[in-house]
Amino acid sequence: MPLAFVDMELLDENIHQILQRSKNIPIRIASKSIRCAKILEYIFNANDQFRGIMSFSGAEAVFLSQKGFDDILIAYPVTNGEVISDICKEIKNGKYINLMTDKLDHVHLINKVGKKHHVKISISVDIDMSVDFPGLHFGVWRSSIRKPNTLKSLLEEIKKMDFVRLEGVMGYEAQIAGVTDKVEKKWLMNNVIRSLKKFSINKIADKRKKAVEMIKAMGFDLKIVNGGGTGSLESTIREDVITEVSVGSGFFNSHLFDNYSKFKHQPAAGFACAINRRPSKNIFTCSGGGYVASGSPEKLKLPLPFLPQGAKLIKNEGAGEVQTPIIYKGNEKLQIGDPVFFRHSKAGELCERFNSLNLIRKNKIEIEVPTYRGEGQCFL
Ligand SMILES: Cc1ncc(COP(=O)(O)O)c(C=O)c1O
Repeated sequence: MPLAFVDMELLDENIHQILQRSKNIPIRIASKSIRCAKILEYIFNANDQFRGIMSFSGAEAVFLSQKGFDDILIAYPVTNGEVISDICKEIKNGKYINLMTDKLDHVHLINKVGKKHHVKISISVDIDMSVDFPGLHFGVWRSSIRKPNTLKSLLEEIKKMDFVRLEGVMGYEAQIAGVTDKVEKKWLMNNVIRSLKKFSINKIADKRKKAVEMIKAMGFDLKIVNGGGTGSLESTIREDVITEVSVGSGFFNSHLFDNYSKFKHQPAAGFACAINRRPSKNIFTCSGGGYVASGSPEKLKLPLPFLPQGAKLIKNEGAGEVQTPIIYKGNEKLQIGDPVFFRHSKAGELCERFNSLNLIRKNKIEIEVPTYRGEGQCFL
């Protein structure tokens, strides 16, 4: 300890639930929320409705391709020519890797590198899916394609280029997929968010449909219409134009994803830290534990003490860089050296803190597998 683990029976249950929630729509696995090649492989082997990877960086796509994975959609622009060159080599080896763009600069660079390597590179366009309310930008700042005319001008330029092939469109409705709407003791906020979500869902569907129609009308052979994330499956699959959904966080179901009204997955991954002190009768201090999640700073980004049940962080200290005290008043007889189990707020970030995942089945560690970090990889 500290060590990270995945409860494989709970992962199996999440896989099953995600398949059910997605009906029969193909699921692209968002590797950002897994960051362990063995787990990616395990999910692919579970069902052939899992098709392709949504990668978060060009270098990661190359790493995964060289490991034997295929059909990789990189959801973020690659702006490093050398990495695009490496991707070209994978494409020449027969792999399908598709690069995301939303600006002419992205496409020019891809076209230039494609020309150098005599490779026609598949690309996608990322459509902004945020919805603006007076005084509120409901969504995330990512794509610059926010208006139909911006898309049209970009498509006209793409048409002129010989070494790119536009085959995909992606829209990530982060305000539905990644925003919690069932947080304990936040009744008012939950209701406001649910109303905003409800109102945006139709606007998102309309925006995506119009973008798809425009791309097709301009003569592109669109193969990928990707949308969604763990938190939006129910609404994303209702859109007729969607060819696939992306899912990542729901597999490990980090604790942020406990706070959604539409689904409830199982706590499949977490970490254990050893108790190394007992400064007071009900306070047990663990070694490590300060694995706080990225994003807007708030309490939900802290790790959640999971077992023993009833263990709590101490407000003034939170989860610390080298030690994390917890308050525990339950019946377990905790000793120095015993583990306290926590869940990370975000799924993939857990793996950036540990070199390996201990895979547990039937209460036993079955095998220990490397995370990206354990393979010496650190992409973002
Ligand atoms: C663009 C995009 N779409 C979808 C997803 C999937 O989201 P989640 O991990 O919440 O399932 C991610 C994140 O991994 C993403 O970056």
